Amino acid sequence: MQSERSDLHKRNMAQFGVVILAAGLGKRMRSTRAKVLHCIAGQSLLTHVIRATQRLHPDRLVVVVGHQAEEVQRQCGGAGIEFALQRDQRGTGDAVRAAQPHFRDFIGDILIVCGDTPLLTTNTLMQFAQHHQEHQATLSVLTVCLDDPAQYGRIIRAHDGSVRKIVEARDATPEERKVREINSGIYCVRADFLFSALERLQPLNAQGEYYLTDIVAQAVTAGLSTHAVVTHDPNEVGGVNSREDLATMEKTRQQQLRSQWMDAGVTFEDPDTVYIDEEVTIGRDTIIGPNTQLKGKTNIGERCRIDGSVYIIDSKIGDDAHIRFSVVLTESELGNHTEVGPFAHLRGGAVLAPKAEIGNFVEVKKSHIGEHSKAKHLAYIGDAEIGRDSNIGAGTITCNYDGFHKHRTKIGDRVQVGSDTTLVAPITINDDVYIATATTVRHDVPAGALVFNVRQEQVREGWTAAKRAKEAAKK
Ligand code: UD1
Ligand code: MG
Repeated sequence: MQSERSDLHKRNMAQFGVVILAAGLGKRMRSTRAKVLHCIAGQSLLTHVIRATQRLHPDRLVVVVGHQAEEVQRQCGGAGIEFALQRDQRGTGDAVRAAQPHFRDFIGDILIVCGDTPLLTTNTLMQFAQHHQEHQATLSVLTVCLDDPAQYGRIIRAHDGSVRKIVEARDATPEERKVREINSGIYCVRADFLFSALERLQPLNAQGEYYLTDIVAQAVTAGLSTHAVVTHDPNEVGGVNSREDLATMEKTRQQQLRSQWMDAGVTFEDPDTVYIDEEVTIGRDTIIGPNTQLKGKTNIGERCRIDGSVYIIDSKIGDDAHIRFSVVLTESELGNHTEVGPFAHLRGGAVLAPKAEIGNFVEVKKSHIGEHSKAKHLAYIGDAEIGRDSNIGAGTITCNYDGFHKHRTKIGDRVQVGSDTTLVAPITINDDVYIATATTVRHDVPAGALVFNVRQEQVREGWTAAKRAKEAAKK
């Protein structure tokens, strides 16, 4: 990609800029959130577009923001991304004009894209920009033919096939409305022509807006080289305007991501029921069962087995891990050859060293479980550090919270924690300690010790029958 991009530069020794339009609210979303902040595959629509254009290595990348400008900048900002503010949304032409101050001393082409087209690929943009440069065009617009051109702007061509203008659906004559070739909203324009053409725009249309699309007719009238370049994948250039569009594009993106991971050597037992976020990575020969959601920055190693009905977010899984049915992992780390579940919840900094095992109905929070240590049944392990080869019995609870502060529990190596143990933190259980069943441990225990509570066991023979008789007599 880098080398192709260098070719773009060499041809005309000029600069290459990108403007992304993202100032609109997106009324048809019926949302209090700006449209471009809605997500597909766990990433905002705008971030999708930013990533696709960043891979072209532009000299300048400017995002035009307006609605919820601060929030959009906060969520989508990053190195090399500049923001221009369009105070009032007076149309796409006005939006590009807002970016002009960022292009002083700029000589070259500007690629203009909308912030609501999340399936756009770098490849398509690259081919489009190359076509523009090879033809030494002043203005190129990317188009696509649709069976239902709906509300998209129509590409009006002359008899010889050359493009004449773009007409918005609302402003089109019935004849023009029949045209199936539409404006994708993606343009490549020489900067000097672009900004002078924007000065001449008039809001003479059904919406009373400054339409960017009008610069096409301006270029044609001025006799400048103007191209309408047809692309063949309507999915790629489709804009999200409604919740329905959002759902459709999510589905498409999920299919693409699953295919990509299958190509990379991952098995999905029921692909349609697996959801994968954009930044997730999955190692080869990993097998993923039905109803699995892999979210955020999750990395899964090689040869793992995920049985299904699993929700994993922002977690790292090593190689050869086995995640059984119905497990939730958030911000957790599983080492190589670990086993978790069924029905386990690991969260907020739970770390399992290699070969550690967490079983049914165990919750682990902000704790480190050492190599080969196990908590296989019904336990809460919070704010704890457990050494290696220790066993945490069923029903063990780390009492980490006194109502005011959280306290830590430290358990050494080769510790045997009996069932139904409560560990009142802060507390340290040293190596090789043996905690008897049903012990409440309140004080640190030295290495190698046995700890138990003295409680007398009493048996009253015949008690149940006597009690029942007494209750029956009351009726
Ligand atoms: C626009 C095009 C239409 C094209 C379609 C492709 C115009 C006049 N029409 O229509 O020909 O077929 O895109 O998707 O350009 N925006 C701003 N500031 C504004 C107005 C819009 O930043 O004042 C941004 C929006 O946030 C959005 C993009 O520009 O990201 C496109 O705006 P939108 O209202 O969706 O335009 P369409 O009606 O879809
Ligand atoms: Mg749109």
